[in-house]
Amino acid sequence: MEKSVVEKAKAHFAALIEDQFERIEQMKTVKDFVDYDNLDKIIIGVVGGDGIGPFITKQAQRVLEFLLKEDVKKGRVEFKVIDGLTIENRAKCKQAIPDDILEELKKCHVILKGPTTTPRAGDQWPNIESANVAMRKELDLFANVRPVKVPEENIDWIFFRENTEGAYALGSDGIRVNDDLAVDFTVATYEGSYRIIKAAFDYAKKSGMNKVTVVTKANVVKTTDGLFLDIAKDISKDYPEVEWDDWYIDIMTAKLVDEKRRSQFKVMVLPNLYGDILTDEAAEFQGGVGTAGSANLGKKYAMFEAIHGSAPRMVKEGRAKYADPSSIIRAAGMLLDHIGYTDKAHRLQMALDICGDYEKKLVLTGRDNGATGAEFADYLMETIRDDNIENKWKEFTD
Ligand code: IPM
Ligand code: MG
Repeated sequence: MEKSVVEKAKAHFAALIEDQFERIEQMKTVKDFVDYDNLDKIIIGVVGGDGIGPFITKQAQRVLEFLLKEDVKKGRVEFKVIDGLTIENRAKCKQAIPDDILEELKKCHVILKGPTTTPRAGDQWPNIESANVAMRKELDLFANVRPVKVPEENIDWIFFRENTEGAYALGSDGIRVNDDLAVDFTVATYEGSYRIIKAAFDYAKKSGMNKVTVVTKANVVKTTDGLFLDIAKDISKDYPEVEWDDWYIDIMTAKLVDEKRRSQFKVMVLPNLYGDILTDEAAEFQGGVGTAGSANLGKKYAMFEAIHGSAPRMVKEGRAKYADPSSIIRAAGMLLDHIGYTDKAHRLQMALDICGDYEKKLVLTGRDNGATGAEFADYLMETIRDDNIENKWKEFTD
């Protein structure tokens, strides 16, 4: 082996380690979560993204504007539409998030984001990092919170996926050492693991669920997952009222399909890649990834998104206006809840359940034989206005 090849790989590794130490210092500088009640004005950024993104995000914005009408008038809430987080623009700038857009994002307190195309080797785009992943890192959105509910099967899960570390931290910084050897890295830091596990335990306690399941593969991935599990053991001692257990990701994936066992799980906390995979599986029981919303929470910023893709084919075939906005509107509901509009968020969630799963006066098919996203949003707003909404929802959930 040529010595220079090894030396080059060592230097690459050394630079990565230095970057991670810098990141750790950065993490330590932000101590507390923003208190939205103390802000005079909350700025909600609206980022359409790619493909069907701008179409469905527009509908979510309409619903939010409807619910927040009074507070917008009073100047307590302001919407800020941020264009340009498109794959064409990102490809042109060769940046996952172009600098000027990142600057705009940082002027918002919370962000509602449509799907963004993730380039991969061999497609027509330069192989830049995913805008999702970059936004999570840049705004330090460390907690990816994904609820999944199937009331008729007693499923009430909430996943706390670590969102900035694991296999994703250096996902675009592996080393193709030479033609024979490629190495990727996975990262766990004390600070990064601690804050996500603590968030999961806090949630379990606050919600009264009082049950946390920690998912790793610490029997094989001993160093990073081992650290994650050790920290969980320590944190659990501060929560005597919260019952906890730990499972390996392989058997956990199987147990979610086990109808006799799966309703025992409540709050789950897991490293990034396992969380990515397990939450797609979980969402499938609820009706597919298109039905799930996702919150990406940091101490300073928060971003809420649909978890499905940008469906460029629908746009090409002229069907974008028939795209289902449910997932991004669910995300908008999580946003409302996060910034303190709990009642409005609840009303929106009820309307989504009623319109999408129960009453179904309008059905979205993704084609012109179904409703448009705008018609569906109108239907939701009409349901929100309905004084009978609570009763309807109870009929559905009982
Ligand atoms: C998700 C997505 C992203 C991820 C992709 C688009 C990079 O699958 O939000 O789960 O892997 O995190
Ligand atoms: Mg995913």
